[in-house]
Amino acid sequence: CHIEQWDFDDPVPRSELLKKVPGIQGLYCLLSETIDSEVLDAAGPTLRVVSTMSVGYDHISLEELKKRGIRLGYTPDVLTEAAAELTVALLLATSRRLLEAVDEAKSGGWGSWKPLWMCGYGLTGSTVGILGLGRIGKAVAMRLKPFGVKKFLYTNSAPRPETAAAIPAEFVPLEELARHSDFIIVCCALTPGTKGICNSRMFSKMKDTAVFINTSRKAAQKEKGGGVVNQDDLYQALASGHIAAAGLDVTVPEPLPTEHPLFKLKNCVILPHIASATWSTRNAMAVLAANNLLAGLRGDPMEREVFL
Ligand code: DGY
Repeated sequence: CHIEQWDFDDPVPRSELLKKVPGIQGLYCLLSETIDSEVLDAAGPTLRVVSTMSVGYDHISLEELKKRGIRLGYTPDVLTEAAAELTVALLLATSRRLLEAVDEAKSGGWGSWKPLWMCGYGLTGSTVGILGLGRIGKAVAMRLKPFGVKKFLYTNSAPRPETAAAIPAEFVPLEELARHSDFIIVCCALTPGTKGICNSRMFSKMKDTAVFINTSRKAAQKEKGGGVVNQDDLYQALASGHIAAAGLDVTVPEPLPTEHPLFKLKNCVILPHIASATWSTRNAMAVLAANNLLAGLRGDPMEREVFL
């Protein structure tokens, strides 16, 4: 292949991308690139395959690919374990107030031992609600089981009896999940059906001791609208003490501006979208995306393809 490569860690500027794509047959992209009709028109009719180094593909216009008969590769599975591990880490950091505690220790806030100081919420005997019981949701549940969780609930577009039986987890409507869970973990993909479902209506049903964790998908671009979580509603729920705490690995937009009100809250832990960031996982994603692209160019089945 003749390869044109953007060889920097920062995303390729849009103007550079548009300049380089005319006449290409394959496009290897990241979730930082919006692949829409503008890019596809610029590439022209030679383009046959798009391969994204991500499990999410909400940054790509599926309709526009379909119209043009362009195939799409993506990278599910290889990041499931890393994402689940990070979700557990974020949950513990949030519920046990680890960042606040480290800050206190460093800044002289650590005085004599006090019975109620830095108390948080533990998993033992708790009810955990999973919103989106897919590969990552299941892997999170399996990792949380040994912490002594009493009950797992889940909600999904449809029940998933086989996956649920392995945990075991009970299928319930979103409102019930909100009402009964001590921890709510959002692991679903961003789709028209999940956009904005974590909103004031849901937060108002939650316990005031509940911890909310989001490692789902964001919207790739601000102008596309919000993600799964309505962040204004989440801010209100946290600031008013209506829920206890939140841990987020995805936000809209990304990066979240440092002056954003959520950063001002002690009970909100925000990570910069690092769920899949282990050396081995990023390497596996990169290789899978390259193999998908090559298979697509040869006209062979891809290892992992989104069938449009
Ligand atoms: C993905 O792949 O979609 C994640 O958001 C980043 O790994």
